[in-house]
Amino acid sequence: MEVGKPSFDELFENVITYPDFEYQERLNMLVGLDNQKSRLVKIISLLINPYGIEKWAEKHHKGSKKAFNYVLKRPPLIVLEGDVGSGKSELATTISDAVARQEKIDIQLLPLSLSTRGQGRVGEMTRLISAAFDYTIERAEKLKNKAGSSRGAVVLLVDEADALTQSRESAQMHHEDRAGVNAFIRGIDRVANGKIPAAIIMCTNRINALDPAVKRRSADIISFGRPTEEQRSLVLKEPLKELGFLEEQILEIVKETGPNNKDKEGFTFSDLTQRLIPSIILNAYPDNPVEFESAIRLVKQMIPTPPFNDKKYVK
Ligand SMILES: Nc1ncnc2c1ncn2[C@@H]1O[C@H](COP(=O)(O)OP(=O)(O)OP(=O)(O)O)[C@@H](O)[C@H]1O
Ligand SMILES: [Mg+2]
Repeated sequence: MEVGKPSFDELFENVITYPDFEYQERLNMLVGLDNQKSRLVKIISLLINPYGIEKWAEKHHKGSKKAFNYVLKRPPLIVLEGDVGSGKSELATTISDAVARQEKIDIQLLPLSLSTRGQGRVGEMTRLISAAFDYTIERAEKLKNKAGSSRGAVVLLVDEADALTQSRESAQMHHEDRAGVNAFIRGIDRVANGKIPAAIIMCTNRINALDPAVKRRSADIISFGRPTEEQRSLVLKEPLKELGFLEEQILEIVKETGPNNKDKEGFTFSDLTQRLIPSIILNAYPDNPVEFESAIRLVKQMIPTPPFNDKKYVK
């Protein structure tokens, strides 16, 4: 080991191995994200197991080598971007379960720990990020097969990636952060050139602040937003029905959690699951059962999480 190279445990939070029943369940709990789910599964499976599409091409488009070369040489990064509490982190930590089951391989998720930001000491960020990529590549190399599908795959998760990847164009940017972004870009290129079963998922609230070179290296940028009426209904219907609400009462709550045409934003997914439903229950507990009148009053009083204001970061 190099002098001072951070250990694997310093860099990563708990490694998750899929398939895993718990994560399959959590993935199933995410509603209204079918589009994001299917795009993610497609890209990740293509990145970690190009053999699949090669077989498909052989069958349907024999000889179209050039076209497929472009598909196979897509960069290994996928960006999940959007509003707070919209399911980015949750989908990023659960989606590999679906990929693992589809491709019939084990997948390891390496979640880069927040402490990777370092303490801003010169060279520290660069060192940490390079080391994180070293470990990712090392693990993926071991799973590579000379021919055919790989024996497994590695997904590097960089959540809350804003600080790591914000645009180097920004004048106020600290030198140390700039070096970190450079290291990140080099890391992506190393994964791309290594032809290894690895992918990188990055989550951010600030797509506008994302460095152009990072953007360019993403195979896809998938957007997440506040739930539509239909999506809010999907989240709320079952739990409220269980609590004894009637259909029209549920509809009223669904409408009330939406944006009004003036200044009020609609609820985020997390406002619904982590604040509203628990509040409705705890409001009644321990003396009364849940009932509609107090629930709707509560909904009306509740202020949705303010949106993440990305605009001020636009150059
Ligand atoms: N589509 C959804 N269906 C059901 N629950 C959801 C959905 N999206 C988010 N949630 C709930 O909201 C919680 C927060 O989601 P998550 O942590 O993924 O948000 P995020 O997009 O990463 O937000 P942030 O940008 O603040 O990190 C999750 O634990 C999950 O329970
Ligand atoms: Mg998150």
